[in-house]
Amino acid sequence: MVRSIEIHPDGRVDVVVSLTTPGCPIRAQFERAVVDNVGAIEGVTSVGVGFDVLSDTEKQGLQQKLGRPGGLPEGALAKVKNVICVASGKGGVGKSTMTANLAAALTAEGKSAGALDCDVYGYSIPRMLGVNSRPEVNAERKIIPLESPSGVKVMSIGFFVEENAAVVWRGPMLHKAIQQFLEDVDWGELDYLLLDLPPGTGDVSMTLAQLLPQAKILVVTTPQPAAQSVAARAAEMAAKVDLEVLGVVENMSGFTAPDGQRFTIFGEGGGQELADELDVPLLGKVPLEEALREHADAGDPLATSEPDAPASIAIRQAARGIIATTPVELPLMQAVAADMPATPAPIGGTELPVVQAGG
Ligand SMILES: Nc1ncnc2c1ncn2[C@@H]1O[C@H](COP(=O)(O)OP(=O)(O)O)[C@@H](O)[C@H]1O
Ligand SMILES: [Mg+2]
Repeated sequence: MVRSIEIHPDGRVDVVVSLTTPGCPIRAQFERAVVDNVGAIEGVTSVGVGFDVLSDTEKQGLQQKLGRPGGLPEGALAKVKNVICVASGKGGVGKSTMTANLAAALTAEGKSAGALDCDVYGYSIPRMLGVNSRPEVNAERKIIPLESPSGVKVMSIGFFVEENAAVVWRGPMLHKAIQQFLEDVDWGELDYLLLDLPPGTGDVSMTLAQLLPQAKILVVTTPQPAAQSVAARAAEMAAKVDLEVLGVVENMSGFTAPDGQRFTIFGEGGGQELADELDVPLLGKVPLEEALREHADAGDPLATSEPDAPASIAIRQAARGIIATTPVELPLMQAVAADMPATPAPIGGTELPVVQAGG
């Protein structure tokens, strides 16, 4: 960025260029370009080039103005390689169960994983991953996520409200809370951050798409055709906000009785049809299994506690599918999308209550 241009009567021109960082690797290139271009102008006798560095506020402003994704990776998510939103068209299809178990399965595959509960009204991640206490704040005033016994870093609105309290927030509050969970939480280095979305395609999905243009969507569906067309709406939403669909997981995919007989309680084939329709892989077919529900209720994901259970095998296969379809190195996530207003609209309500570490 050009900070200033001074033209002297004797034809001397002084230009000050602002760099994003003092050790800018293309500083010499800037200098040469300014000297060449300004020096070529008629009447210019000599060119002086000076440098200074943009302040943090100036950098942020510039990032927003230029709308360049991944430009200045200064946000809390700078070290998160992949953000995956677990979505479905409706509730009760097992989104939270899949989020919790996939996150645990990813850690079992040697990846670092986090789970963020974005279902503010129907949060269930703390219970399913067996964590629930007040998170602390570190010296940089960032909220420290809790770590589940299975090694998943967890953050949920459930940590900040009284047990079973209803959260009644509308659009802007919701947006602010999710933004805070992404920006003000010390996620640190993570291979995968899984976001458990609320059912449907409402406010939260739009907020996430705006905040995380590089996030990918994992669609969960049950096998019946009705659910599949509902799930297709989640994919349509993804397309509308320009997020890539990573794949489909079919849940509640048949039930095998103790005598070995298989019942297709929720129909059959919906997951594959949806995957074909979206031209993405079907990453797994997870059977109905009582133990999966029991372990979710007990906060002990089946995928890691009983890895040989049929549902666990399917979930771990899906986790390996996720690893296979996400490249190791991705452009760094940016903290705030370019088209967010420079100064967010003031939002009423209270800040999230947090306790100070050691206090
Ligand atoms: N494959 C499955 N087998 C048995 N129970 C399941 C399975 N998937 C989900 N459940 C149970 O169904 C209920 C709804 O699942 P949940 O993950 O909360 O859905 P969602 O987050 O989509 O609303 C939970 O009680 C969960 O334990
Ligand atoms: Mg849920």
